[in-house]
Amino acid sequence: MNIRALAAKAVYDVLERGVSLSVALPEQQTRVANGKDKGLLAEICYGVMRHLPQLDKQTSDCLSKPLKGKQRIVHQLLLVGCYQLYFTRIPAHAAISETAEACRQLGFENLVKVVNGVLRNIQRNQAPLAEDNDTLRFNMPGWIVKSLKTAYPDNWQEIIEQSHQRPPMWLRNNALRQSRDEYLALLEQAEVAASSGQSPQSILLESPTDVAQLPGFFEGHASVQDGAAQWAATLLEPQDGEQLLDACAAPGGKTCHILELAPKASLVAVDFDDKRLKRVKENLTRLNLNADVIHGDASDIDSWWQGDKFDRILLDAPCSATGVIRRHPDIKWLRKAKDIEELAALQSKILDHCWQWLKPGGTLLYATCSIMPQENRDQINAFLARTADATLDTLPQSAAGETGWQILPGQQQMDGFYYARLRKQA
Ligand SMILES: C[S@@+](CC[C@H](N)C(=O)[O-])C[C@H]1O[C@@H](n2cnc3c(N)ncnc32)[C@H](O)[C@@H]1O
Repeated sequence: MNIRALAAKAVYDVLERGVSLSVALPEQQTRVANGKDKGLLAEICYGVMRHLPQLDKQTSDCLSKPLKGKQRIVHQLLLVGCYQLYFTRIPAHAAISETAEACRQLGFENLVKVVNGVLRNIQRNQAPLAEDNDTLRFNMPGWIVKSLKTAYPDNWQEIIEQSHQRPPMWLRNNALRQSRDEYLALLEQAEVAASSGQSPQSILLESPTDVAQLPGFFEGHASVQDGAAQWAATLLEPQDGEQLLDACAAPGGKTCHILELAPKASLVAVDFDDKRLKRVKENLTRLNLNADVIHGDASDIDSWWQGDKFDRILLDAPCSATGVIRRHPDIKWLRKAKDIEELAALQSKILDHCWQWLKPGGTLLYATCSIMPQENRDQINAFLARTADATLDTLPQSAAGETGWQILPGQQQMDGFYYARLRKQA
């Protein structure tokens, strides 16, 4: 099937059915044989998500009446066409004819002329993309712009700009197999340009690389994981012989990192989502690591765990993921303003419950990939206020007087992330 038709289907799934792009895109990519076409399909889908409001305005302005109901997918196809005209080097005539052909393939022969006409019109006028309001100017929902202005009055624009950048690819060296320097040397031999990051096992690649080209990847010598996410296991400081809980574990990036640092610890990895738990098992197998993988609710540990309390708990809580918009631009359109309050309530419920399962003297590391204070700083301040036996560690990375450590997107080339390390009175 035509790449533009597949792109329209993926964009439709995200915008009309609320499916995340990381699920919708691979589904369409399975229908494409060649790697270059898979890449073009991804580039178009990600591009449409990044520039959605402006593309939407441009195409809607050219339609005499909106496309509704079953025809909605043709509207998404127009976004795909418009993206190619503004943001790719694909010659306009090819972009237009391929997009019109996609309309036929999607079964809307009657709308081929409309698609052709709209895209020709856009190409002829070459009008600058609209910037009439914050949503259009920043290609970001107004509620996110407003929240960022309030939370970060000095640098909200920089945060938005960073959230539009294409993220770099990070690796985590597997310290059980070799030192980071040894792996950097292997990368050099394989002609993959890379340098070390600030967290102990992190490696930043100069450009994204197919994992098949990474030395020993399938044998578990390294994993793909953003530099910010790699701080989780490091800050948790797991020790061999301890009983550990990874309370929201799937897909298991941090579970595996914890075991790479403390291979003789007993780790329970739990998650609510059975499908995502399969990925935890796959990751453990590739890295030859062992954990007790459990399908369960972190806010009801009593229902699936009869063992001892835990020495350390990682709570990588479900969150708005507003720190990783550069990796998942569909988040901008899938999240709604009311989600923040609901997520904060869920996080505090899980946090309070996990605390009951922490041994006296134990450590709980709270983490999110959010940049919203309600899920981070405010969440932890409220927890400290209501929990007499909890104290907050000062992390060397935190700014003076900051509750926890808020990493903003793009800082040291990392994703946006938040960490707070809590200790329970002995
Ligand atoms: C941020 S992700 C975790 C990422 C993971 N720690 C990693 O590094 O690969 C949050 C996870 O929390 C899970 N989750 C949400 N609510 C939960 C609950 N009540 N109990 C357990 N897991 C939950 C989601 O299924 C999701 O996999």
